[in-house]
Amino acid sequence: TAVQSNDQSPVLVDFEDGIAWVTLNRPTKRNAINPGIVYNMVRVLEELEADDRCKVLVLTGAGDAFSAGMDLREYFRGTDNNPKERIKLYRANAQWQWRQLRFYAKPTIAMVNGWCFGGAFTPLVSCDLAIAAEEAQFGLSEINWGIIPAGVVSRAVASLVREREAMYYVMTGETFDGRRAADIGLVNEAVPRERLRERTRQLAKVLMEKNPTVLRTAKIAHRMAAEMSWEQATDYLMAKVDQSTFHDPERGRDNAMKQFLDEKSFKPGLGAYQR
Ligand code: ACO
Repeated sequence: TAVQSNDQSPVLVDFEDGIAWVTLNRPTKRNAINPGIVYNMVRVLEELEADDRCKVLVLTGAGDAFSAGMDLREYFRGTDNNPKERIKLYRANAQWQWRQLRFYAKPTIAMVNGWCFGGAFTPLVSCDLAIAAEEAQFGLSEINWGIIPAGVVSRAVASLVREREAMYYVMTGETFDGRRAADIGLVNEAVPRERLRERTRQLAKVLMEKNPTVLRTAKIAHRMAAEMSWEQATDYLMAKVDQSTFHDPERGRDNAMKQFLDEKSFKPGLGAYQR
């Protein structure tokens, strides 16, 4: 299976106390996204969605880079004269970079350890949360080599970053660091690189304390509602709240109400109920 990776695999998967660390693994090519990464990521995401060892998924890169974007040699030049392979590869790339990741059944965190360019912005934006090293360097470098931020990069960036900043980086291709990425809303926060893994682990632990059925519904419902009118959203969200209560094997809502109202053993404003 794709999750049984060895050191040579384009994608590594390591399990640790409920966290699945998914590492893009072409460090000598700065984890540029080639067909090997694309097809492996589709399978890894498929398998981890049904794997109980994965309660939170962390996406990161081996070595100095998160990912230097799409591989210019293998992804672009390699398929320019092969339209059939190009369509297949581009569709598989869209599959993992946003169709699977944006609505993933498990919580996802992008851990941006270093270089993050162009096509790497899509999986970054698709992850629910993102922590960057202060030292990481980001760039919409497409303009620097004569293309536009395509795939779905411009759409992804527009969903998080304000118009002035987005336009600035789309048009100049300038790099910016992890702190700036946090300032403009592209990541949640930036921490010194030596604290990056620990901070990510800590955040993953917070997510693992929550009711997984409700967490899954909450994140997907939030993304859906953001694209609806208020009228549609209220109706949809009422349906989703009933659905998650119905599907919840823990009956978390009932337990929590009992713990707060009857037993007075926890305060919902200050932390999660005892599962
Ligand atoms: N596509 C193909 N090969 C790449 C890519 C890429 N996106 N990024 C790095 N590599 C390769 C280099 O060609 C080099 O290969 P070689 O050892 O066979 O010569 C190897 O990775 C190491 O790269 P260096 O440039 O030597 O590494 P350095 O640490 O000096 O620089 C940096 C890193 C800044 C990331 C640089 O490699 C770079 O600018 N890469 C391209 C970034 C980019 O603009 N990506 C495209 C974004 S647009 C899009 O994704 C649609």
